[in-house]
Amino acid sequence: MIDFEDYRESIERGPAKYFHGRHQELKAFKGLLHETSQKGIGSSLLIQGPPGVGKTALIEEHKKEASLQGWQVVDLTIPSLYDPKELFRRLTKNQKAHDVQTTFGVDLKIFNVGFVPKHIEETPYLNEAIIRSQPTCLVLDEAQTLELILSENHRDKVADFFRTYHNVLSEKGFVFLFGGLSTTKDVLRQFGISRFNTNCIHYLEPIERDAERSIIDDWLTKEIKTPSDTTSWIDQITQRTDRWPRHIQSYSNAICDFLEPKESLTHHTLKQVLAYGDDLKLQYYEQRCDGISYQNRQLITSAMESLPPCFDQEDFISCLSKRLSKEDARMLYETILSKGIIHIDQRGISSVPIPSFRSFLIEEYGQEDPKTPPFSSGLALE
Ligand SMILES: Nc1ncnc2c1ncn2[C@@H]1O[C@H](COP(=O)(O)OP(=O)(O)OP(=O)(O)O)[C@@H](O)[C@H]1O
Ligand SMILES: [Mg+2]
Repeated sequence: MIDFEDYRESIERGPAKYFHGRHQELKAFKGLLHETSQKGIGSSLLIQGPPGVGKTALIEEHKKEASLQGWQVVDLTIPSLYDPKELFRRLTKNQKAHDVQTTFGVDLKIFNVGFVPKHIEETPYLNEAIIRSQPTCLVLDEAQTLELILSENHRDKVADFFRTYHNVLSEKGFVFLFGGLSTTKDVLRQFGISRFNTNCIHYLEPIERDAERSIIDDWLTKEIKTPSDTTSWIDQITQRTDRWPRHIQSYSNAICDFLEPKESLTHHTLKQVLAYGDDLKLQYYEQRCDGISYQNRQLITSAMESLPPCFDQEDFISCLSKRLSKEDARMLYETILSKGIIHIDQRGISSVPIPSFRSFLIEEYGQEDPKTPPFSSGLALE
């Protein structure tokens, strides 16, 4: 049975059907492919940002670009970083048959299915040979989850993997493409990746205003094929999306759910789309707070309210420390950072990434006009 929450997640995350904006990032990536393949060098690019800002969608565009330019593009998984057999499977998954010259003098023909090296100890060399055989882009999205590798043995192996391939000298060109939440750069540092070249970390911000409008327009005109003028719908929807891709997608999904193909746009359906989109947006905010107690949500909100919208993490931790021990305050801060409730930008400044998310927290958990907590509302009804 499909879990409704998972189903929603899967259609509000990931590759974009109608991708717009991010011109600078796309241009920079093309430049990186060109430079690394021309000079025969390796490099890394990190796409970092809060949940729903569009990291995975941008990574997918980068992957398409690299494939178009003849690069082999390989999605890594965490096990593939410490298990050579798993890496081998990944590397050969989408390979067309081609010859690979190995360093130990064997010519191999790689086929897409069923090829397993005879001698398992050869696997790391084969992997290296495959990576060096063509310009290669290795992709690791959600790279902040590396932190969850608990076994020391695996951690050492992953660090070894990065040592081998990061800034690897490949005659054909090599790019590591990482995506992840605000903590990713620090997590990668724990694995020895700290030397990102300038321009090789892209801190994603909300998308451009005209890109936001174009995405909604595409869903209405290309997907629904409505004959109506879309301007007033786009005006209304963009008042609620904060240029936040995940929100734009929520309202776009509402468009698909409420409009039949070729349907004209009416005020009545607009109201339905807005109400449904609003609901999805709130569900997304609630999801971000999952696993945090009601009391801690109130503490977080009160700390947030006592500071300006952009603040320093130490000030935030000091506010939390008024009610918690310093250690617990720091742990709570790290939890909300890892959940994307708070985001740290390029300058090291913290904030709640979406203005309407901040308003939601204040409305739900603010102390000024406390809402009756859920546990006592039941009693009040009795
Ligand atoms: N530039 C864009 N143009 C069109 N749609 C986009 C764009 N960026 C993101 N989207 C859409 O917005 C939604 C959220 O984007 P995405 O899943 O890439 O975010 P994310 O930052 O990877 O989030 P998470 O941290 O939860 O994985 C997806 O449905 C995606 O297709
Ligand atoms: Mg993602």
